[in-house]
Amino acid sequence: MNAEAGQSFSILVLHGPNLNLLGLREPDIYGRITLEEINAQLRSEGEVLGVNVSCFQSNHEGALVDAIHAAWGKESGILINAGAYTHTSVAIRDALAGVAIPTVEVHLSNIYKREDFRHHSYIAPIAIGQISGFGAASYRLGLIALIHYLQQSDSNS
Ligand code: DQA
Repeated sequence: MNAEAGQSFSILVLHGPNLNLLGLREPDIYGRITLEEINAQLRSEGEVLGVNVSCFQSNHEGALVDAIHAAWGKESGILINAGAYTHTSVAIRDALAGVAIPTVEVHLSNIYKREDFRHHSYIAPIAIGQISGFGAASYRLGLIALIHYLQQSDSNS
C-alpha cells in the first residue's frame, strides 16, 4: 500500500514469545521498559512521522503467522521482533516471504554477542535489514528505517 498525497503508510509491529514479560524478564539483558511502553513510544513516533502503527504480541507461532497473513493488502510494512522464533521458525519466515510486505527485523539485545544459537535468524535473509542491540531504541530505529525504505520505494515508483 503506497502513500500518495494525503495517504499514509500503515505499519504492523509484531512481537513474538515472552516479549509480553518485558520489564520483568531478565532486565539486565532487556531493560526495564514494558511492552506497553514500547508500543506507546512507537504509536507516538508514528503520529509524529504521519504513519499509522498497530501492535500485536503473541506467544504462539501460528497466531503470528495468521497476523502476517491478515496484513496482506492492508499493511505497508512489518516491524518484527520474533523473539526466540527468530532462530527456529521457518513458518514465520515463509509467511513474511509469502505476503511480500517489506519487513525490518529488530532485537533489543545484540544477538551476535550472545549464545551461538541466537546468531542465526531465519528472518534476516528475507528482511530489508536488521537492527539489534539498542534496547527499546532498536524498535524506534527500525520504524524510522522501514518508513525511510517505504518512502524511497514510493518515490521511485
Ligand atoms: C530477542 C533475542 C532473542 O534471542 C530472544 O529469544 C528474545 C528476545 C531480543 O529482542 O533481543 O526473546 O529477540
